Amino acid sequence: MCGIIGYVGNRPAVPLLLEGLQRLQYRGYDSAGLAVLAENGDLCVEKSVGKLAALASGLRGRWPTSRLGIGHTRWATHGRPSDINAHPHRDCQGRVVVIHNGIVENYLALKERLVDQGHTFVSETDTEVIPHLIEHYLQDGTSLELAVGRAIGQMEGAHAMVVFSVGEPDKLVAARVGNAGGVVVGYGQGEMFVASDLPALLPHTRQVAFLTDGEIAAVTSQSVSYLSVDGAVLAKEAQTVSYDPLSAARGNYKHFMLKEIAEQPEAILDSIRGRARFEPPAVVLEDMAIPKRRLSQIRRVVLVGMGTSLHAAMVGRHYIEQIARIPAVVDNASEFRYRKPLLDADTLVVSVGQSGETVDSLAAMDEARRQGALQITICNVVGSQATRIADGVVYTRCGLEVGVASTKTFTAAIAALYLLACYLAQERGVIEDEEHLRSLIDPLARMPSLVGQVTQGDEEYERLAHRFSRYNNFLYLARGVQFPIAMEGALKLKEVSYIHAEGYPAGEMKHGPIALIDEEMPVVAIALRDELYDKMTSNIEQVKAREGTVIAIASEGDKELAKKLDHIIHLPQASPLLMPILAAIPLQFFAYHIAVRRGFDVDQPRNLAKTVTVE
Ligand code: M6R
Repeated sequence: MCGIIGYVGNRPAVPLLLEGLQRLQYRGYDSAGLAVLAENGDLCVEKSVGKLAALASGLRGRWPTSRLGIGHTRWATHGRPSDINAHPHRDCQGRVVVIHNGIVENYLALKERLVDQGHTFVSETDTEVIPHLIEHYLQDGTSLELAVGRAIGQMEGAHAMVVFSVGEPDKLVAARVGNAGGVVVGYGQGEMFVASDLPALLPHTRQVAFLTDGEIAAVTSQSVSYLSVDGAVLAKEAQTVSYDPLSAARGNYKHFMLKEIAEQPEAILDSIRGRARFEPPAVVLEDMAIPKRRLSQIRRVVLVGMGTSLHAAMVGRHYIEQIARIPAVVDNASEFRYRKPLLDADTLVVSVGQSGETVDSLAAMDEARRQGALQITICNVVGSQATRIADGVVYTRCGLEVGVASTKTFTAAIAALYLLACYLAQERGVIEDEEHLRSLIDPLARMPSLVGQVTQGDEEYERLAHRFSRYNNFLYLARGVQFPIAMEGALKLKEVSYIHAEGYPAGEMKHGPIALIDEEMPVVAIALRDELYDKMTSNIEQVKAREGTVIAIASEGDKELAKKLDHIIHLPQASPLLMPILAAIPLQFFAYHIAVRRGFDVDQPRNLAKTVTVE
């Protein structure tokens, strides 16, 4: 969950490290720290609790010139956020310095052993055992990269880390073990970078190499060599990535979240562009090198994800069943991996994720691989671990999402899942004729402009949000393909406004949650003119009969519902299966405006992180 950056080269390191951390802050933001090697050989470390600004202002004007260093922004796991617990951590002699993402699961046993050997500890963190272990192995005169490999050999858990030592003053060593977040090496001219993910590197280079599980990189300003944790030399090539760093700029928007909500028309367009072919109708998925024969073998689909991505997967289940006509289930990835799922070569596992680095989803993918299932991932981050494990990828292609609360990656993932379902139907011969395929693909063409129409309603959503910003509990209700949108609406409100909200299938309401309904618990009901409309309106009546206040998301022109309710948002009509994309948008705006009204940091909500790399 933490952000990691390292630099070695010919430019002053501190400004580059701070700039990199700025771009990584969304990964964790309870404390930050830097370590650099001064030109006179001194190791200088500065750490500060709170956001990066606190560290940066503490450093102003009093930092030595240096050409090598590392920086970290933390999301606390072991030890509360404090100056001492912030990374980097050092060994006893102050010669080895480490930044780390992950959990050293056996740190207590290691710490006890190291203390017995005479090592002294200053923090409450698990990470601090790492520099001491490396210090121990360096005593033999071994190189830093081999000492890191030997230290890793003692550590349980998953890790991403960067290390340097005063004893080898022109080298950074980076390592990745398991799924504790990525490590990417960036190649510059006379300089090299390492980072936990791409955004930190993009202003400097597009030439990168991603470490996979069990790999170590020894990086100097001129070269990089790769080895496995047990010391075997590895061959690894850099690749060119094509992300546009400018897309991360906030522009005139007050927050990234607002910008990213507003970007959804382009996000949807980018995710369908070139894939949905209209004349003649066809779906082309460019990163799907799975033979037709293998796709025809699929008898069952299991969709997995976490948080917002799980909600997208829940919508995807409807698509796989209704469009591709394959039995499908959906599961929370963290539950899936531990419930001893039964998979086989006829099962397709579809993992959905924004980052492609979520540890629970990666572990579910590992389990799927172990059992020989076919895998496709829906992902936004090029080159992330999920995309390397899966047999096929559908990138959501919606540019960097900086706001910690996912918005555009959610709706783009739904669009990608729709395309995947159409593709499976096409490749497996489920499509009856050209007209059938056309009826599935044509509705996609209107989605970018319909999404644009919905985002234009911002002022109306803001007014509504202000009217409801004083309430402390909300219930979100929907049915069918809209039910996951109720879940997502409630999650967004929780995440950014810190308001208690629950999403329920509307049919479930009278089995318990109805007991909560009174005038202090507004109900957000998605009641569109679809096959479940009558059922939804009955549920709305049940709420009204108990003095409940209802905010409805309704279809354009629904005067009947408008007569009954004071608060109603109308959506333009799209194909019923694509309506979840439209319904999600007012709920994103609603959560955003309530959070802003309450004075919260919407882009970096408390306790959250953009990429969740711990269990
Ligand atoms: O990167 P992923 O989509 O796999 O992340 C999964 C969840 O952690 C993520 O969706 C989380 O729920 C977001 N904060 C939602 O806004």
